[in-house]
Amino acid sequence: MKVGFVGWRGMVGSVLMGRMLEENDFVGISPVFFSTSNVGGQAPNVGVDTPALQDAYDLEALSNLDAIISCQGGSYTNKVFADLRDKGWDGYWIDAASSLRMDDDAIIVLDPVNDQVVKDGIAKGVKNYIGGNCTVSLMLMAIGGLFKADLVEWVSSMTYQAASGAGASNMRELIQQMGEINQAVAVDLANPASAILDIDRKVADAMRNDLSIDNFGAPLAGSLLPYIDTQLENGQSREEWKAEAETNKILANDKAIPIDGICVRVGAMRCHSQALTIKLKKDVPLDEIERIIAEANDWVKVIPNDRDASLEELTPTKVTGTLSIPVGRLRKLSMGPEYLTAFTVGDQLLWGAAEPLRRMLNILRA
Ligand code: HSE
Repeated sequence: MKVGFVGWRGMVGSVLMGRMLEENDFVGISPVFFSTSNVGGQAPNVGVDTPALQDAYDLEALSNLDAIISCQGGSYTNKVFADLRDKGWDGYWIDAASSLRMDDDAIIVLDPVNDQVVKDGIAKGVKNYIGGNCTVSLMLMAIGGLFKADLVEWVSSMTYQAASGAGASNMRELIQQMGEINQAVAVDLANPASAILDIDRKVADAMRNDLSIDNFGAPLAGSLLPYIDTQLENGQSREEWKAEAETNKILANDKAIPIDGICVRVGAMRCHSQALTIKLKKDVPLDEIERIIAEANDWVKVIPNDRDASLEELTPTKVTGTLSIPVGRLRKLSMGPEYLTAFTVGDQLLWGAAEPLRRMLNILRA
């Protein structure tokens, strides 16, 4: 199988490369690496023979491939994909970008949750397999079991999304902002006799006036940003709109399950967290709910709803860089026995972006 890689040097692409090397995914395929800036340069060493870097806009070169994985972003997809198909290319297009996600001839891939949808798609000749929005994929990895058991009437998801979701330069900017805050009060901090309200005033001054905000457009460190992505006319942000639209598409639901909430950027590096309110279709005992959630896939892990376990296991700090999907704070809300709450954390570059793509390639190879 000849597989083209575009955008392998970027953040999601690098995570994808790392995972593919870890899992020996390059063994048995013929990888061809593409570039938009360094055509003819040396391809990365992935342990198998690879030609020099090819031009990512060369439709002829792309047409020779059985599959293409793009982590290059939506504008690349918009520029290349339609022309490639118009030329008659019939290979598999696997993409991290959202451009094609909601198209009728595309399937959103998250095989631990929708492997049957993916397999049916392959059998029907679907050729476009697109990674889901990170928040949506992480929510489904966490509570996919409840959807599968047809227990969910609706979900409200309140998110705490990491800087990485906005891009690599945003991650740098977050740390930069943290440093700038520290610098604004470093002298006072070192002096145990300094007044905390003076420190607080200087911090607020620095946050309002002096932080680097080229990427976020607002100070994030020490604060939060209650709006992610673009504004829609119905009052939702585009990120909020994706929850219901993508979840129901991933699950191939005939009747859409309502999913809505508020998406918020917080000062975490690469783990998105979500506080979920779930209206169940019936009163199911909590121990059964925990069993259903825990058995849904190999990565989800139910964390007991106690303080120590939550602080130990259910944080971005613990989860970052891992495939683990902890779900905790599980309890029935005081609104009634059908109202369940949960808190979940997941690495948005792994299950939220790269992992479903490499798994899709492996499904096609099987
Ligand atoms: N849109 C997401 C975010 C990341 O801004 O966090 C990509 O799915």
